[in-house]
Amino acid sequence: MQVAIDGPASSGKSTISKIAAERFSLAYIDTGAMYRAAAYIKLKYVVEGAAFYTLLQQTEFTFNPKNTPFLICAPQIGEVDISSAIRTLEVTKAVSYVASDAEVRRILTAKQQWAAKGRDVIMDGRDIGTVVLPNADLKFFLIAAAEVRAKRRCDEWIAQGKQVLYEDVLKDILARDTADIHRDAAPLKKAPDAREIDTSLLTIEEVVEIISVCISQLRLG
Ligand code: DC
Repeated sequence: MQVAIDGPASSGKSTISKIAAERFSLAYIDTGAMYRAAAYIKLKYVVEGAAFYTLLQQTEFTFNPKNTPFLICAPQIGEVDISSAIRTLEVTKAVSYVASDAEVRRILTAKQQWAAKGRDVIMDGRDIGTVVLPNADLKFFLIAAAEVRAKRRCDEWIAQGKQVLYEDVLKDILARDTADIHRDAAPLKKAPDAREIDTSLLTIEEVVEIISVCISQLRLG
């Protein structure tokens, strides 16, 4: 069974995907983390053009028990734990630009399709239902008002002890929405056969419940 969950930044995709994956024993693949890894590699190893694409192509992503890529391994850089490094503000600011590169998308899309091949998975991102897994058994498109998403992201960062301003976070979310929606390569878009869920006024449990009912119905045939 393949489940695709797309939506803008902080719409709740990864939290909800992780819970549903655990509940139904599906592998969870966080494709946003893979784009973040690409941005991290570019920033950290200062590689450009063909050298960057080769490095990305050679990079293996190792998924931890929760299936978030947390190790990258490539001949030039060895094995590196990137779990926290991909969540920094620096990477978050750079990732939209890196994710708009068609060659980066081609490389990562192929890796994502390979990772999902023959497995029961929940994969979340921006183009899963449209590009990566167009034949997914279930597709969801999560949305929420930008102000609600900014508040959620702020709360997360504050809980981690980081100092952030709501206005800055909102500005960043709106900028990432614009970049994700308007890029030429695989823009953020609802697949015609995806079910849209507005999570603005729903709890995580309520969204998980909606998705769980659909997965259970599919499993029962
Ligand atoms: O979900 P996230 O915030 O971790 O995603 C990080 C960035 O990667 C975000 O700017 C959108 C981009 N992304 C993408 O373009 N395609 C995907 N399938 C997943 C994420």
